[in-house]
Amino acid sequence: MRPLFIAGNWKMNPATAKEAVALAEAIKNGVGPAADVRVAVCPPALFLDQVDAALANSPIGLGAQNMHWKPDGAYTGEISGAMLNDAGCTHVILGHSERRHGMGETDAQVNAKLHTALAVGLIPIVCIGETQQEREGGQTEDVVAGQLTGSLAGISAEQMVGIVLAYEPVWAIGTGLTATPAQAQGVHEFIRDWLTKLFGEATAARIVVQYGGSVKPDNAAELLACPDIDGALVGGASLKEADFLGIIRAAQ
Ligand code: G3P
Repeated sequence: MRPLFIAGNWKMNPATAKEAVALAEAIKNGVGPAADVRVAVCPPALFLDQVDAALANSPIGLGAQNMHWKPDGAYTGEISGAMLNDAGCTHVILGHSERRHGMGETDAQVNAKLHTALAVGLIPIVCIGETQQEREGGQTEDVVAGQLTGSLAGISAEQMVGIVLAYEPVWAIGTGLTATPAQAQGVHEFIRDWLTKLFGEATAARIVVQYGGSVKPDNAAELLACPDIDGALVGGASLKEADFLGIIRAAQ
């Protein structure tokens, strides 16, 4: 049985460190000292230090939303894995569709970041997912398989168990158009089969695959009850502590 893992991707929110710390403290107080489900929050990079302090003595993980694949150097505006470690990060989101489609991030770049994240001891959350046009064109499985192949190149079965995947249909992100449990389970089952073919059944059974895309307290339980859905990567609802705690409760 894979432990359910609920992560909040705060994206470019909230606007101030004060609000970020207050949100982190509210989630920490709501989760309590020993969560029986894996939880992480991923604030903007500027607030990582302060949110790390706010989460002190809590089981909640701290995630970044991106990182560079180089260890250091002349990369204006970028952040290295070592800097994320120094800020207290345990996780890092890689290949989010808003970076793949919004900033042209390639599978090769995601793969380079993935190898660096593993090298510096961060738990990667690697995002994959198709657009509305690709789904309507019947290309969902081809797109997801292509992203898995490119993003996971050179990864061993042993490394794969330490990597979290997040299937996020682009058309469900921030739209309120949640994939139905049947739609989500269908792609998660495809991903599990793909992982089985590449890494073997025992390894594939241990890999946590989150669903992301308009997860809310009122749809979380049904999604998380699906056999191949092992958690959620939550955007908008993670910014409202009552909603995020409601999703966590649905996972317990
Ligand atoms: O990374 C999670 C995010 O893309 C999902 O966003 O607002 O649809 O929950 P949202």
